[in-house]
Amino acid sequence: MPLSCSQLSVFYGRRKALNNFNLDLKPGEIRALIGPNGSGKSTALQAIAGLITPHEGQVEINGKPAREMPRRTLAKQLAFLPQQPSAPDEMTVEQLVRQGRYPHVGLFRNYSSRDEQAIEWALESTGLANLADRSLHELSGGERQRAWISAALAQEAQILLLDEPTSFLDIGFQVEVLNLVHRLSRERGVTIIMAIHDINQAISISDRISLLEKGQLLFDGEPDELAESGLIEKVFRVQGNFVRIAPGSRPHFDIELIRS
Ligand SMILES: Nc1ncnc2c1ncn2[C@@H]1O[C@H](COP(=O)(O)OP(=O)(O)OP(=O)(O)O)[C@@H](O)[C@H]1O
Ligand SMILES: [Mg+2]
Repeated sequence: MPLSCSQLSVFYGRRKALNNFNLDLKPGEIRALIGPNGSGKSTALQAIAGLITPHEGQVEINGKPAREMPRRTLAKQLAFLPQQPSAPDEMTVEQLVRQGRYPHVGLFRNYSSRDEQAIEWALESTGLANLADRSLHELSGGERQRAWISAALAQEAQILLLDEPTSFLDIGFQVEVLNLVHRLSRERGVTIIMAIHDINQAISISDRISLLEKGQLLFDGEPDELAESGLIEKVFRVQGNFVRIAPGSRPHFDIELIRS
């Protein structure tokens, strides 16, 4: 499903956290949203998800203004995984994932077999089937993060917004989540925006990258163009080189950790 933002601006009090943000996504596109801490990534995602009302600009889903859509209609089309989601501690993994399915479920909470299938698929694809009965406070940080990813998947929305979905995951699960994101895009045509700090993961997975700095969109383009722009070194104040591991492979940022 296509998604676009035009000239989105968000203020917190008198401070502008997002300034004139534009974004255009094709159906099935994977977009990485990168930028330093405090650059406005979560603010942009929250505005797109309709959780904060932008002071200017608008979001369109499938060509229609998102703010005019009823909540439930929007929730069927767009799933959002916040950076720091919260739920009651005693809630179990399965209850959380069932709650994710809520926009599809009838008024009397009658889950259809289609709903049950979606819940099972969401649990399995995040490796949580054997933890379904555990309560959230009995999970490790990474397991809890997977439970939240699972809840967002159960929603089976055609647009998926993920705010740093791999931040607590070990490298094995990071790769699994990235592969899952890739499959959702390629096999189901899900349109995905993902805020992510790992530049190399952003480059490997995304079709296009948006780079924010202090609420401004500094770059919107393909991974190759980003590597050539010199912006990573400048914006993040680091030294390193973009290298290609094999001819034709995507650029890899080889960061210089210790400066002598
Ligand atoms: N609820 C809020 N009230 C006031 N200021 C806020 C609020 N949320 C964020 N900010 C400020 O807005 C700016 C953008 O924050 P945002 O959370 O969007 O950054 P981010 O790019 O997601 O950062 P991070 O990489 O740390 O997650 C920051 O300066 C932050 O301090
Ligand atoms: Mg954030």
